[in-house]
Amino acid sequence: MNKKKVMIEGAMDLETELLIASLEQPRESMFGSWRFVEGMYKDIPLVVAVTSIGAANAAAATVLGIEHFQPDAVISQGTAGGHDPVLQAFDIVLGKKSFDASSYRTVKEEKADWRHMELMGAFAYDQHTGTFAPQAVYASGDEALLAAAHKAATGYTRGRVVDGCIASCNTWNRQQERLLYFHESFGSSCEEMEVHSAALICRQYAVPFLGIRIISNTEFSDEEFQPETATVCQKFVLNVVENIV
Ligand code: 5AD
Repeated sequence: MNKKKVMIEGAMDLETELLIASLEQPRESMFGSWRFVEGMYKDIPLVVAVTSIGAANAAAATVLGIEHFQPDAVISQGTAGGHDPVLQAFDIVLGKKSFDASSYRTVKEEKADWRHMELMGAFAYDQHTGTFAPQAVYASGDEALLAAAHKAATGYTRGRVVDGCIASCNTWNRQQERLLYFHESFGSSCEEMEVHSAALICRQYAVPFLGIRIISNTEFSDEEFQPETATVCQKFVLNVVENIV
């Protein structure tokens, strides 16, 4: 039986180099300024996309990768900062849900209290109306990919693996009050910069998608960015793709 082709995305070299080194007969291509490496991992066809940092890069690379490689599934993986105070470095968050933490409307008030905000959904193409229209705030991770990640989780020894909610936007928050506010008000487990934009593009193309993020830093146990987490996350993701049915 032919195995499904999976595109695995990572923003930085340290988040993709183990994946690329794991490919047999790697073939490189550049589309625009984005690097893609295609190859086999065991009997699974993979494409590794080096997206660079941030929402715009992740969206652009996801479109280019889907158009050129027609993957059966997309995983956006890499590092993240903790929002849930329980989580520690090396814990892994499976993106059951994601949202754009920069997409909000504040209340009208003369003096600003930044907490007075409500989330807004992004504009995206709606096949029913044939137009771009506001979408639900949260995007869901694909159930079959989640099930594969749950299987991989049983062999993960570096921390816990939790189903959670990924807050994406081009910010790096270090204020505990703000981190807790997002966790308590919107249910976020962690923050990073790429997952939700890739999720929206995959939804428009009807390609199954999952965000998988390892906690690399958290203010709640005062853990600074740990580069080794990026390597550990890539190994976990290779186990996930082996478990996709
Ligand atoms: N906040 C935002 N982005 C983070 N990243 C890792 N930790 C955080 C954090 N606390 C990831 C982003 C981006 C790069 C700067 O690191 O996804 O790719």
